[in-house]
Amino acid sequence: MATLTDLNETRSVSHSLDPVIAHDDEPKRKAEPFWIGPVKIDPPILQAPMAGFTNYAFRQVVRQFGGVGLLATEMVSARSFVWKDRTECEHPDRLWGVKDEPRPLAVQMWDNDPERLAMVGARLAHEYQVSVVDLNFGCPVREITEKAHSGSYLLSDPPRMGRIIERVVRACEPVPVTAKIRLGCRRDCINAIEVARVVEQSGAAALTVHGRTAQDYFRGEANWEEIARIKPHLKRIPLIGNGDIDSAEKAAAAYRRYGVDGIMIARAALGRPWLFRQAAAALRGEPIPPDPTLDEQRQWLLYHYRLVCERFGMERGTVLMRKFACCYAQGVPGARQFRTQVAQVQSPDHFYEVVDRYFPRDDPSGSESTGP
Ligand SMILES: Cc1cc2nc3c(=O)[nH]c(=O)nc-3n(C[C@H](O)[C@H](O)[C@H](O)COP(=O)(O)O)c2cc1C
Repeated sequence: MATLTDLNETRSVSHSLDPVIAHDDEPKRKAEPFWIGPVKIDPPILQAPMAGFTNYAFRQVVRQFGGVGLLATEMVSARSFVWKDRTECEHPDRLWGVKDEPRPLAVQMWDNDPERLAMVGARLAHEYQVSVVDLNFGCPVREITEKAHSGSYLLSDPPRMGRIIERVVRACEPVPVTAKIRLGCRRDCINAIEVARVVEQSGAAALTVHGRTAQDYFRGEANWEEIARIKPHLKRIPLIGNGDIDSAEKAAAAYRRYGVDGIMIARAALGRPWLFRQAAAALRGEPIPPDPTLDEQRQWLLYHYRLVCERFGMERGTVLMRKFACCYAQGVPGARQFRTQVAQVQSPDHFYEVVDRYFPRDDPSGSESTGP
């Protein structure tokens, strides 16, 4: 799993999407909904799966801001799902909230065994009644690739990917199955077009492409030109582009320039769950709503904290919340001290004290708060 250091590193790099914004003379492509099988994605903006982050609490916050056509869970291990089933344990924390929360919702899973994935996919589709079952073919982390021959490892074996997708599609019917990939395993072996064809021919209902290779991990810039090159090779299914979208303007620019059907946003939304609403406005060609005030942001953070603690209890919830709290303060002027302090909190009292004392405040003459 990527760490917070990865996130911070990539925040500071320049993005290939920057020049795109300058192309204001480009024809303005109006945002249109698209379909993943029977599921309408409106607006065409998706919240990316992020292990350790996109749990029920995060999704609730995102949902309340709006602007997302499809939300996704963290990736779920098919093997651990089966194991928990056999041992009659509660299902993985990563499925927290999935049965009850509003739709549309995608659950992502990973493994390399078609039968195991089909079995878990069928359960997700029919018992959990999720809107979309997504297959992870992009994770570059060694535990998943080298050790489990899953995630982005499978990009080197498109026929196996095809067998997996076919089997899972059959098991999940009528719930659509989608695939999320990277451009390839290595920079000298970009095979996304070949993989995209296999994904489509095997019956998947959409393809998401993160514009980096597994070798890149999170380094460098996402290559949107390579993403765009895939589009003409897909005859039937939509293409969703992903990578380095960290502003509403970039979301709109990528949508217009690269001809993708949808835009997926991951890291930038962790501390700015209102980014989807802003991106949706930009795609519609409307004025971009401002960020919430710092007072509002603090209230959203506390709301998020309460949701996490309701599930995990106050002690574990506090420890889990440290990374989210750091995200909320990312890029906020004067938040360094807050991040240092909150990264060490152990108890709820300490958490509240640090938020109260160190989370940056608006100018006292600022506008009134309308947080959650
Ligand atoms: C902490 C973290 C966890 C992630 N977990 C997943 C995951 O479970 N499944 C997946 O397909 N991608 C995962 N990703 C990749 C993102 O979904 C996304 O493809 C990538 O971050 C690029 O998008 P961005 O530039 O908008 O962040 C993860 C990324 C991060 C930073």
